[in-house]
Amino acid sequence: MFKGNFSLNLSALEGLFKAKMPPLIGVDISSSSIKMVEISEPGKGLYRVERYAIEPLPKDSLVEGNINNLDAVSDALKRCHKRLGSNVKNLALALPNAAVISKKIMVPAGQTEDELELQVETEANQYIPFALDEVNLDFQVLGPAPNNPDDIEVLIAASRKEKIIDRLAVAESAGLKATVMDVDLFAAQSAFELIEGQFPDHGKDQNIAVVDVGSSIMAVNVLRNDQSIYMREQPFGGNQLTQEIQNKFGLSPEEAEAAKRAGGLPENYESDVLQPFMDMMGLEVARALQFFFTSTQHNQIHHIVLSGGCAAIPGADETVGKRVQVNTLIANPFVNMTLSSKIRPKSLTQDAPSLMVACGLAMRRFDP
Ligand SMILES: Nc1ncnc2c1ncn2[C@@H]1O[C@H](COP(=O)(O)OP(=O)(O)OP(=O)(O)O)[C@@H](O)[C@H]1O
Ligand SMILES: [Mg+2]
Repeated sequence: MFKGNFSLNLSALEGLFKAKMPPLIGVDISSSSIKMVEISEPGKGLYRVERYAIEPLPKDSLVEGNINNLDAVSDALKRCHKRLGSNVKNLALALPNAAVISKKIMVPAGQTEDELELQVETEANQYIPFALDEVNLDFQVLGPAPNNPDDIEVLIAASRKEKIIDRLAVAESAGLKATVMDVDLFAAQSAFELIEGQFPDHGKDQNIAVVDVGSSIMAVNVLRNDQSIYMREQPFGGNQLTQEIQNKFGLSPEEAEAAKRAGGLPENYESDVLQPFMDMMGLEVARALQFFFTSTQHNQIHHIVLSGGCAAIPGADETVGKRVQVNTLIANPFVNMTLSSKIRPKSLTQDAPSLMVACGLAMRRFDP
């Protein structure tokens, strides 16, 4: 079944994607920063983090996944790559979830590749709200249909060409090359698979909510046996905390952002600003789980994996776990990897929750 080893086939655009994969860097262009991760495989199934880097993005250069300022993003990409210090120039990038429509369809088994392609296009026409020549269509056969042996299940993904073109363009103007185009959600799911070994029975038949609290969006993706059974995004994130710090202590956005991570704020910060924010985070997670229970037939979450920059706030796991009474773990997809001697383990552990997408993308290098 779908294991997240899916990347959009851009061959229609660039003819890039059939060749065997050379080394590549996973690059997450997110609203607050660019994150890069490079992973190697020194032994079969043994991974090693070679390098990683995080470079802040100027405010509003990326809004809701749309690149608003191509120059700003490409400059930051260049800086990030320089900081990374790698000679690898091939990148695996991802599209925001909202730029991609994906849908499972059933089609008769036993068709040729050409027939299948035609059928997928016909089906896609029915639910994609824009002209087919504006989209890139890709599909992956998932396997036999669960209810009918004569059918197969196919996952279709359609994305607006302009979103892909923007990402190819920023890479190119930074002197780099996008060779894989994935989707945020799928990349994060691949990273999740590096974590699930920590759950009893590897999480089999359990509902595991991956809750990502970033700078502006909180995304909840409930997985069961490595398949997404529920997904919801809502506005909530670390920007609210930064804003509060600015207001309360009269700091600039940059100062507030730095103080939040480095500490050194007045004594009443914890009680007056941080604690209310943490309580709100617990409440938002509780609400999101309620939505999950009311809109599916499920009534239990077995574990929560907390990711995104806000998961790095000390005590985030405890606050959320206590509020919703579910075992809560801070995401670290590198937990079973060795580290290059240049990486400080403590820094990586701190940054790991916000590197889920970049890590999942870096792992694309090892896809068969
Ligand atoms: N150590 C830390 N302590 C407190 N907050 C942190 C820490 N590290 C990161 N953050 C906060 O996390 C947020 C960034 O998280 P992340 O990188 O996951 O967001 P993003 O992916 O860019 O945003 P979004 O997912 O909303 O598009 C910022 O608000 C930042 O201040
Ligand atoms: Mg994010």
